[in-house]
Amino acid sequence: MADIVWWKESVVYQIYPISFMDSDGDGHGDLRGIYDKLDYLTDLGIDVIWICPIYESPGHDNGYDISDYYAIMRKYGTMEDFDRLLEEAHKRGLKIMMDLVLNHTSDEHPWFAESRSMKDNPKRDYYIWRSGKHGQLPNNWESYFGGSVWKLDPETNEYYLHLYSEHQPDLNWDNPQMAEEMYEMVHWWLEKGVDGFRFDAVAHIAKAEGLPSAHNPDNLPVVPAYQLFSNLQQVHSILNKLNDMILKPYGPMTVGETSGLGPEQALAYVGTDRNELNMVFQFEHMFVDAQSSGIGKWNYREWKLPELKEIMSQWQTVLHGRGWNANYMGNHDQPRPVSRFGDDGKYRVRSAQMLATWMLTLEGTPYIYQGEEIGMTNIAFPDIEQYRDIETMNYYRHHIGQGRSKQDVMEAIWLKSRDNARTPMQWDDSEHAGFTKGEPWIQVNDNFTEINVAAAESDPQSILHYYRKLISLRKKNKVLIYGAYELLLADDPDIYAYTRTLDDEKVLVILNFSSNEPEMHWPEGWAAEQAKLMICNVNKRYSTDEGTILLQPYEARVYRML
Ligand code: GLC
Repeated sequence: MADIVWWKESVVYQIYPISFMDSDGDGHGDLRGIYDKLDYLTDLGIDVIWICPIYESPGHDNGYDISDYYAIMRKYGTMEDFDRLLEEAHKRGLKIMMDLVLNHTSDEHPWFAESRSMKDNPKRDYYIWRSGKHGQLPNNWESYFGGSVWKLDPETNEYYLHLYSEHQPDLNWDNPQMAEEMYEMVHWWLEKGVDGFRFDAVAHIAKAEGLPSAHNPDNLPVVPAYQLFSNLQQVHSILNKLNDMILKPYGPMTVGETSGLGPEQALAYVGTDRNELNMVFQFEHMFVDAQSSGIGKWNYREWKLPELKEIMSQWQTVLHGRGWNANYMGNHDQPRPVSRFGDDGKYRVRSAQMLATWMLTLEGTPYIYQGEEIGMTNIAFPDIEQYRDIETMNYYRHHIGQGRSKQDVMEAIWLKSRDNARTPMQWDDSEHAGFTKGEPWIQVNDNFTEINVAAAESDPQSILHYYRKLISLRKKNKVLIYGAYELLLADDPDIYAYTRTLDDEKVLVILNFSSNEPEMHWPEGWAAEQAKLMICNVNKRYSTDEGTILLQPYEARVYRML
């Protein structure tokens, strides 16, 4: 059996603080709001809270543009509030994972103010500056948020590089002083007692030598160039160093955000022999409904279950015994899973429960994003003015500018905008869903009167109660954590079924990802009389007398072999 470590056995709950709970009526969530909800989180049964960035920031990208790594954003409270939260969480046995942005800072960070001021400022080289080539951009890379990665700065008439928005200049990790200052900062947070880190956009901290332009057969002004700034060798050297110099004595839980890799490549980060990260967030399954990865996410493609199964199964099997998975189906950058992979209408409750069963029965550490546990859904604001996300607004501006129809652009936004996941947490059916006494920074989803925590608490059949059961089931059954995964019925268009095996324990997971009523045979070695149901999301299952299993829409069952 694999080494037993706490972060493998933990369930993580992700908080997007601006939208979680507002304690002071300014319309933004805050640290005291999180503090007030610790009972709720304890009752859910989670172990680790990952809090998206709460550092000082002008907030162009909701905190992913940090202007002071040592201070708490005023809207979120004070460092005392943070200390109190950390202490109280620890008292309850909960751990806190910080979100750290190492790839870039805010353009309001004092380093950048110095860097941009003069070419020979000592901090010039903390960022990536280039002069234009004969009046042209330094290269043709496209930003994740649209347009070029280069922004001309009038101060010195040179361009700086930003993979994300122009308010997020990329740091230059070739500069040893800058790296040193970052390592020190990580150390400072560990000394404070935090238990882990999610390293934002960490795959991109190294860029290809010489910043060459990407292949561009159609001679476009900018093109996606992910391979020139993702998962390069130098990222691994930096992570090794970070472990050796800073992390090792503290043993924090670490997860890296690494787009653009498959499981074999991921082993370079998470292989047990690597000294880098405990696990990574992979993106392959997040592009099953897109024409291509990265910025191609906006171009919808109908997703197919066999493809989703194939991707997940690859990750499950390749990493088994060699590394560790991080499993998620949504986060603050993704649409709501029930709207994307389930049914947010008639079968909302049941399909959200089915998806939860999936996440909680895979090998790897499960991540639950706020609101998933009550089945919160996408929004479809009619007007772009109601959106807040910088990526969404850039997308809209760019495509309207190119002459696309408003309807067409809004339809893409309804499907894929990050704001789908960023509307306020729905606590009860009072005004603004009990999230704030003031005006929320972004509109609450209209369905809050029906979908909210209070309603879920009082309904024993709710998604929330089901999550509690699932989490406790996972805790009690090591086979669900460590067991080897084997996919069944790879080509079935409706059913996702697999077994998990640990020593002499065997579990069978059956998930109906459709509104059909498909039928399957008991897999080889299994029979109704020798299978004990561990959990199921329908009250009255169809009979299994005929030796087959007939499923209801979005049904999920987990059996243990007797
Ligand atoms: C990550 C974050 C995302 C942010 C980006 C830039 O992808 O999850 O929210 O916009 O990095 O920091």
